[in-house]
Amino acid sequence: MLLLNKILGFFSHDMGIDLGTANTLVSVRGDGIILDEPSVVAVKRGTNKVLMNGQAVGSAAKAMLGKTPDGIEAVRPLKSGVIADFDITEAMLAYFIRKVHKRRWGVRPRVVIAVPSGITTVEKQAVYSSAERAGARKIYLIKEPRAAGIGAGLPVEEPQASMVVDIGGGTTEIAVMSLADIVVAKSLRVAGDSFDEAIRNHLKNAHNLHIGEQTAERIKTTIGSAFELDEEESLEVKGQDVTVGLPRSCIVTSQEIREALRHPISEILRTIREVLERTPPELSGDLVDTGLTLCGGGALLRGIDRLIEEETGLPATIADDPLTCVATGTALFLENLDRYSAILEAEEDEGHS
Ligand SMILES: Nc1ncnc2c1ncn2[C@@H]1O[C@H](COP(=O)(O)OP(=O)(O)OP(=O)(O)O)[C@@H](O)[C@H]1O
Ligand SMILES: [Mg+2]
Repeated sequence: MLLLNKILGFFSHDMGIDLGTANTLVSVRGDGIILDEPSVVAVKRGTNKVLMNGQAVGSAAKAMLGKTPDGIEAVRPLKSGVIADFDITEAMLAYFIRKVHKRRWGVRPRVVIAVPSGITTVEKQAVYSSAERAGARKIYLIKEPRAAGIGAGLPVEEPQASMVVDIGGGTTEIAVMSLADIVVAKSLRVAGDSFDEAIRNHLKNAHNLHIGEQTAERIKTTIGSAFELDEEESLEVKGQDVTVGLPRSCIVTSQEIREALRHPISEILRTIREVLERTPPELSGDLVDTGLTLCGGGALLRGIDRLIEEETGLPATIADDPLTCVATGTALFLENLDRYSAILEAEEDEGHS
């Protein structure tokens, strides 16, 4: 069995997966990040049968969100950072693994998967089973903030505090780490999706306009902000009149979008403060100088760093490539699997209990 595993390992590409609510990134040992696709799958409506026309998964499927005809449905199988639809997640993973292996059937890679720090045992089990049935030979789970910290180049193994705030699609992960371990962490199910939702509600209440998820996300990424802009902006938005049901457009400003985002952002700020309050004093002291590092797509919301600095008094740095930190972290784990396996093994055993 051991020998067989060795042989399989020799032929397979070990993979790191950032299975995100919004985006799934796959890295391969030696090659870095080789796949970066939205976590969206097109299925036959009411079933979990993936459409088999080559446009069923990833960006092509995301473009269908909210625009599908009767027989088809575009689904996001992860919600709030965890698997909401088991079968579709498995189909998505299987698709990505196959794509990476370029149809080399029978190859069963070892896989490192990044999961939210607040994942429950049941949720962990779901990730394991999905990856197993999708073809993984050995599965290691790594907590997202740890992967993010490593990917962002923080000295997480040193006896000093490193703090990460990862604002993703479904979850915000806040963690203080030292000596390669998480000392204090909190995973909050408020992140980019909540921002989109807040924008949709605002359009409905203030402009009597229904807009879809994708439009809300576009508003957020073009004129969205968390802190006053030097020059405020505006944008024409198209949707459906709530009362008469007809298509219509309206103009929204960056000020009103900022106001709409105030509530979900304040929840994130409150949780950052909570984590800081629970941090032991020695590590707290370190943070005065090193501050915190922002990653995840939400770190790209304009002014979020400035707002956090103002609210916490700590320096906030946006990671170099906030959307890929976790995937880069899983890739570095793969490169150093032998060195890290002790930590990973421990997490694996936990998950299999
Ligand atoms: N420029 C931008 N401004 C604001 N938000 C952005 C920007 N670019 C991307 N985002 C948001 O970032 C989120 C996706 O980030 P990311 O890929 O880190 O999430 P994820 O890892 O898939 O989710 P999770 O970690 O919660 O499972 C989406 O909500 C997206 O709208
Ligand atoms: Mg993420």
